[in-house]
Amino acid sequence: MSRPDPHSYFDPGQPRTRRLDLALDVDFARRVLAGRVVLDLGGPSQGPLDLDTKGLTVGFVRTGDGKSVPFSLAAEEPILGCRLRLELPPGTAAVEIAYETAPDSAALQWLEPAQTEGKRHPFLFSQNQSINARAMMPCQDSPYVRAPYRAEVTLPEALGAVMSAGPAGTRPGLEPGTRRWLFEMPQPIPSYLLALAVGDLASRDLSPRSRVWAEPATVEQAAWEFAGVERMIATAEGLFGPYLWERYDMLVLPPSFPYGGMENPRMTFLTPTLLAGDRSLVDVVAHELAHSWTGNLVTNATMEHFWLNEGFTVWAERRIVEALHGEEATALAWAIGQNALDESVARFGKDSPLTRLRTEMTGVDPDDAYSSIPYEKGARFVALLERTVGRERFGRFIQAYLGRFRFTSITTEDFTAFLDEQLPGVGAQVGARAWLYEVGMPDNAPVFRSAELEALTALAEGFEGGGRPTPAQVSAWAPAEMLIYLQHLPRELGADACAWLDTNLKLTGRGNHEILVEWLTIAVGSDYEPVFGRVREVLSRVGRMKYLRPLYGALGRHARTRALARDIYAAARPGYHALSRRVIESVMEKYRDD
Ligand code: BES
Ligand code: ZN
Repeated sequence: MSRPDPHSYFDPGQPRTRRLDLALDVDFARRVLAGRVVLDLGGPSQGPLDLDTKGLTVGFVRTGDGKSVPFSLAAEEPILGCRLRLELPPGTAAVEIAYETAPDSAALQWLEPAQTEGKRHPFLFSQNQSINARAMMPCQDSPYVRAPYRAEVTLPEALGAVMSAGPAGTRPGLEPGTRRWLFEMPQPIPSYLLALAVGDLASRDLSPRSRVWAEPATVEQAAWEFAGVERMIATAEGLFGPYLWERYDMLVLPPSFPYGGMENPRMTFLTPTLLAGDRSLVDVVAHELAHSWTGNLVTNATMEHFWLNEGFTVWAERRIVEALHGEEATALAWAIGQNALDESVARFGKDSPLTRLRTEMTGVDPDDAYSSIPYEKGARFVALLERTVGRERFGRFIQAYLGRFRFTSITTEDFTAFLDEQLPGVGAQVGARAWLYEVGMPDNAPVFRSAELEALTALAEGFEGGGRPTPAQVSAWAPAEMLIYLQHLPRELGADACAWLDTNLKLTGRGNHEILVEWLTIAVGSDYEPVFGRVREVLSRVGRMKYLRPLYGALGRHARTRALARDIYAAARPGYHALSRRVIESVMEKYRDD
């Protein structure tokens, strides 16, 4: 037995899943998915087959031709879950496993109607990255394993379903009042990209190959916000080559969705907090779209190589943003990223092993290691390579990289071998080894300057000395400029300063959650009571971890706001995703005792 992925029981010496067929019933009353998965092994196989599971109840296991397969479900291990070992009789070409998910499955969030926009129907969504596909179905839950899949999902007639796959029609369900939705994903994908959402869904076409799905109450707003997606796809194709997944659809989820976006192939999942009403947050769409090349075509082999997914994607996202909005806007995006990077390095400590790009994660839960480091340090490394060889040559390199590794899963070492082959000497020239394997930030990190950026930071740094932006300056700011200004203000201000900011920058009422949350973080960190109501409202509705961490963190500064945080959390907890709860609890554990 040799296991190349510290987060999976996948054993490359055993048969591999070549296709996956799911047949699931969505049971909102019991909060379970119940049904079967067929793992096609691509040919006659035998002997042990280890699968990952988490919280699953296994009914029967049998071969494709109906013979029963002996199996044992091991005791639960922290992080990994339960190994399901099958003993395949000789000649087994496929196995069928009947199973049910747990009501508190780590992969699924079941929402009450009250947690949706329409308030009338329940909602279900999955989030399998990093290692939760095993809480949705028994599988070889390592990105080393890629397989096409088919699914048929039975749900209440009033609801609709989407998956990270092409729609293949619907049929009446066996039970009255139900309907079966069919899906087909012909390209081989890792298990973390399998996704399902069920709810009261409507859609609007944005282009011949793109549409947006959302609850009926938000679908128009979503169609307006993301109207530019076809231009984005075309721009990305110009940079990275043809889009190979046929359709690029998006789903706007209810606000408890714990991420900004998730690059489920053919169906990006998005937080509704992107619906700012001014199209200012569509860089998240550029990011998830860019994963169609970096991440979904060329995939990290394990979470120890996560930077290959996210670092390349942040770099690619900013190339798209630059092509669409110019260099000045892109410099601001890099500056916002720098702020996130500094925060993450400070949170872990600059000598923490988690500041490496290539990480070692035996015994480490990927959710605990999550930070901006693989994103922003990774993107800076890619940008450094690009600057070193020049845009044209790097463009050819990227296309060659995507061509060589498309539909495969690779390690950091696969990447560096390819780099050395294609751009000999460049790795050594930029200090690739230190970038990839050492802690902290190397001192040859590229710097992204712009006059606008310098003016904004200087203005913010002058705030304590009495410097204030003029009304004309404020009204000329784009949302990103307002955000950068706020990010460079002191974390704690007096009540008069807070009042000045709120009056002149009109912050508390904003719908742009990047600006709103940055402001509320300063305001609650300053114990500024006039925002407490708005903070409660935001924290009770929004489950995006990017916002929960700083807000609950800043609420920890003062006794009065700690009490407020505990009170808000007690009420909001049932509505949070399990991932969000974990983040909040880890933040609140560090609160000083009152
Ligand atoms: N793939 C990630 C989200 C993710 C990472 C989920 C790790 C689970 C484990 C997605 O592409 C992402 O990076 N989302 C960002 C958006 C961004 C950087 C523009 C987010 O959610 O904030
Ligand atoms: Zn990403």
